[in-house]
Amino acid sequence: MEKQKPRVYVTRIIAEKALNLLATECEMKLWEGAMPPPREVLLEAVREIDGLVSLLTDKVDEELLKQALNLRVVSNVAVGYDNIDVNAATRHGIPIGNTPGVLTETTADLTFALMMAAARRLGESERYIRDGKWQTWDPTALLGVDIFGATLGIIGMGRIGQAVAKRARGFEMHVIYCGGGHGYQSQLIGATRREMDELLRESDFVSIHCPLTPDTHHLIGERELGMMKPTAILVNTARGGIVDPKALNTALKNKQIGYAALDVTEPEPIHLDDPLLTLDNCLIVPHIGSASVRTREKMAMMAVENLLAGLKGERLPHCVNPTVYNR
Ligand code: DGY
Repeated sequence: MEKQKPRVYVTRIIAEKALNLLATECEMKLWEGAMPPPREVLLEAVREIDGLVSLLTDKVDEELLKQALNLRVVSNVAVGYDNIDVNAATRHGIPIGNTPGVLTETTADLTFALMMAAARRLGESERYIRDGKWQTWDPTALLGVDIFGATLGIIGMGRIGQAVAKRARGFEMHVIYCGGGHGYQSQLIGATRREMDELLRESDFVSIHCPLTPDTHHLIGERELGMMKPTAILVNTARGGIVDPKALNTALKNKQIGYAALDVTEPEPIHLDDPLLTLDNCLIVPHIGSASVRTREKMAMMAVENLLAGLKGERLPHCVNPTVYNR
């Protein structure tokens, strides 16, 4: 008799190559909506499954895990996993997979794109043309700040922070950083450690690359924004919840800082009536840090590899809660 294939649920359409592999190895149910599956649909779906491929838009918490009696593995198609209650998963004996490494360079590219776009006011410049304001070459219009030779403060020197620091070398930036990271090699990257307050005071650009945890929630608030230079540019490609949006709005409106360029917001998606969207000195893009064709395929493949390993009872190649194996 043919062995029954493991049952898996995939919460959104991901790269075709990854879906094809899953469909060969598993009995796959795919949520094909453009929006994430509603909570009640997901809660119902997990009752039957052995493996779940989730996205950062899917909340995997105690309530869900309690219903998922056969669940053996959750594989998140993201490096970040703040959508998952990892402690609860560990308690339930469920390994959680993520996708580190493959999106590092793509996210660092976007970080630099945002830094440059903010520094040279590209959003405003584009609107200037569309609004019919480009009448002549104007020696005083749309003046920005230089990136070359400026000081870049990196909060969180993990993989992405380091990849941003490497790019900064090409612009002869002076790079300082605070917070830890994976295998940071200061001699290769040439960044100098600072306390966070010093970093905020000294930096022309502050770029956030730490994970969102209870400790980093609203890490950048009124006090921290108040320490930054009035010309400083804040870039966030990590998680929206690391910056207090109300405090940011006030700081930008009152020109306490120069500019913010955000790939991530709190909440996501940002509400259309959010005051940040009314500010000229705020550039916002919709969480596209890892959004290149190649990287999204790599993420999807890595997530499937994690899932298949978990279904076979093997250690996940990229597991965020390895203590689950000590049980
Ligand atoms: C992640 O992987 O955590 C990003 O936010 C989405 O690619």
